[in-house]
Amino acid sequence: MSQQQPQTIYLKDYQVPSHLIAKTELRFELAEEETLVRATLHVRRNPEGAQARPALVLNGHPSLELCRLSIDGQVLSERDFQRTDETLTITQVPEEFTLECLTRIHPETNTALEGLYKSDGMFCTQCEAEGFRRITFYPDRPDVMSVFSTTVVADKTRYPILLSNGNPVETGEEDDGRHFVTWDDPFPKPAYLFALVAGDLAVLEDSYTTSSGRKVSLKIYAERKDLDKLDHAMASLKKAMHWDEQVYGREYDLDIYMIVAVDFFNMGAMENKGLNIFNTSCVLASPKTTTDAAFQRVESVVAHEYFHNWSGNRVTCRDWFQLSLKEGFTVFRDAEFSADVNSRTVKRVEDVTLLRTAQFAEDGGPMAHPVRPDSYMEISNFYTLTVYEKGAEVVRMIHSLLGPEQFRAGADLYFQRHDGQAVTTDDFVKAMEDASGRDLTQFRRWYSQAGTPNVEASGSWDAEQGRYRLTLRQSTPATPGQDEKLPLHMPIAYGLLDQQGRELSAGVLELTESEQTFVFDNLPGHPVPSLLRGFSAPVKLSFDYSDEELMLLLKSDTDGFNRWDAGQRMAVRLMLGMIDDYRAGRSIQVPSLLVESWASVLRDRSLDPAMVAHLLRLPGEAYLAEQCQTVDVEAIHEVRQALREQLANALKDDWLQAYKRSCQDGAYTPDAESIARRSLKNLCLGYLLATGEDAWLALAEEQFSRADNMTDQHAALSLVVHSSFREAGERMLDAFHNQWQHEALVMNQWFAVQASDPWPGALERVQRLAEHPLFDERNPNKLRALIAAFCAQNPVRFHAEDGSGYRFLADWIIKLNTSNPQVASRLLTPLTRWKRYPDAAQAKMKSELERILAVDKLSPDVYEVVSKSLA
Ligand code: TRP
Ligand code: ZN
Repeated sequence: MSQQQPQTIYLKDYQVPSHLIAKTELRFELAEEETLVRATLHVRRNPEGAQARPALVLNGHPSLELCRLSIDGQVLSERDFQRTDETLTITQVPEEFTLECLTRIHPETNTALEGLYKSDGMFCTQCEAEGFRRITFYPDRPDVMSVFSTTVVADKTRYPILLSNGNPVETGEEDDGRHFVTWDDPFPKPAYLFALVAGDLAVLEDSYTTSSGRKVSLKIYAERKDLDKLDHAMASLKKAMHWDEQVYGREYDLDIYMIVAVDFFNMGAMENKGLNIFNTSCVLASPKTTTDAAFQRVESVVAHEYFHNWSGNRVTCRDWFQLSLKEGFTVFRDAEFSADVNSRTVKRVEDVTLLRTAQFAEDGGPMAHPVRPDSYMEISNFYTLTVYEKGAEVVRMIHSLLGPEQFRAGADLYFQRHDGQAVTTDDFVKAMEDASGRDLTQFRRWYSQAGTPNVEASGSWDAEQGRYRLTLRQSTPATPGQDEKLPLHMPIAYGLLDQQGRELSAGVLELTESEQTFVFDNLPGHPVPSLLRGFSAPVKLSFDYSDEELMLLLKSDTDGFNRWDAGQRMAVRLMLGMIDDYRAGRSIQVPSLLVESWASVLRDRSLDPAMVAHLLRLPGEAYLAEQCQTVDVEAIHEVRQALREQLANALKDDWLQAYKRSCQDGAYTPDAESIARRSLKNLCLGYLLATGEDAWLALAEEQFSRADNMTDQHAALSLVVHSSFREAGERMLDAFHNQWQHEALVMNQWFAVQASDPWPGALERVQRLAEHPLFDERNPNKLRALIAAFCAQNPVRFHAEDGSGYRFLADWIIKLNTSNPQVASRLLTPLTRWKRYPDAAQAKMKSELERILAVDKLSPDVYEVVSKSLA
């Protein structure tokens, strides 16, 4: 190995900070060739620290140029401190002192997009998790909370807008056409919540009056050309502020709340106190340029970042192992918000689909870790589906076990007890226990035990006694570093239906043992169990349903989620049989059962229209792959295509009628009902195109050119491009390019549609597109639209037999390892799953991982993922 191995950090080694920083004063002089940062820290020894005369150890990135360091006005010489790659240590310090530190940094060449950097000519920051140490030397850990005062100085013409956290308290002019603004944030916060923005920005302004009557000024900043795309984010913000007051009794606490949209951003958005910074993809929205899915994403991300003001900022994390304390809880909060303002069942179906495909795969892969990890090399690698989505499921289970009232009492106690503190997931659970009187000792294992539990359910019916016995057995497979697994405490929501589909009883079972039997008496007949309603626990539940029983659940379950799930179970089971046939070289037959049940859903006018599109969607290729021992990507793809085609032909009239019924004139609105209607309409269009008949191509082309909204236009584009109508697809791509070449986010869709095209030639096309003038390898959104879309959304082409897809990805990882390690490491995911594929593919994937590992100066981000994948 050519590089020094990064250190592993362990939760068990946690120690309280040796010093506290009561106040942090920052002055930034922003310029084109360098930025000067003067930090004045009011430091005192932590009375709770382990040592009586501790050295002061500050974090500092190797890129920091130290200009001057002084204590209480006395300039330190080189002999007074030691600098390593990552730290600066001053051995002799007083009990209490003022440290002044002048550093020079280079945001203009910062391509990692961590710390202070430039995005399209504007300055912005990303400090979570450990970006602040790229700005100045500092105890960059979340349990050091400080009151910040920030002065930003910059050229007035280029950077008329200067922002930081809190309230503006002073503005003025400096020499050389520069101006300054000073911002004070009265709430103590860790450095990861610090933010700064400087640029020539337009703003949408509004206000919100809190339930106690305080008026808060709301400002959303963006480039001038995007000013007309901010209304949806503003409306979403106000909805979220109101919801948090209604549901959690939480009000906003500053006089001003700002959001800034930036084009270069590693993730979705960031909850910096009073100054959220958003990826443009999570804030801009307009009917003509934005799909329904993106409208909903904007709404939920705006809400998510807003909710962090309490779950994350007022109460923050003690250390990064506790990340799910804020992320799991906040994802749960934003999911409930979306469920309340849109369709609850649809939201649940979408979230569970993500969890069962991507999070379950993570739990079964080489990077599997508990919701509260116990070690890491690079914390950026742990902003995962496990910490976010499974973490939210864990909070949801507490909600199910306690019920809404006691959960709310627990949340109140948590916020009241820990306001202004940096705490642990255990503190969260303790507040829930104390408020409810329930014992969650065993439940805590959800935080420390990795892997997805299997729950096997079986029933036995005693006709004479009218008694049904339901047995549940749980087990969790071993994960890296955790061989032994203990039984978990899980809520299993259930209902029992009679053979006519009427509900006999319903409730929540609490499974705590490895095996447990629940007895139901006085039943009129052999019941059909509806299990894990609403997906009440993040587990793989199996039950040996007959086809008729699944049909019954699909038709009559009172739980909307389980109706959908019954259809999915039926489809998965039949498709796995077809995949076996395909692999054995047998002809594949479409089971009539599936056609019948799809027909019954299509024709049933009593169904919730919001659910119909979901009920009629075949399980995705990634979800099917999850159900296979060894993944045969080609078989999965071919079977799914064949099934689509046959469903298309068998139900052609129904698809057309449903399509027509779902077309509706009138102005576009992104409400749940209209979204459901468009989603059904475009699902029907997809099935019609799958027949390969010219008439439906004409229909799609008409929809494409006449659409007044991006949802319909994009659906027509991607359906035709991915269909057998190859020439028509090319024509549409050209038309789309010509129409939208000046809209960056729309062009990301143009890249992604081509990258995810399953037809041969996709790799060559992606390679060509990487040279397109609108592609920019420094922009993470572009990398996601082209490189990630190909590697993660186009399994048949990524897994091409000659290994070309793997080589392509490895080349990109090696290139991005230097410029943007966070994004490089995230792109790696598809290669890390090599164990799931046939031997020949495994060998090729592994050799690419080995090639990456041999690279000189591998970032800790990439090193951790690659080395753990090969272990
Ligand atoms: N705290 C952010 C959120 O979930 C996540 C985030 C934004 C982030 N940008 C990041 C995490 C950069 C790591 C690196 O809302
Ligand atoms: Zn978050």
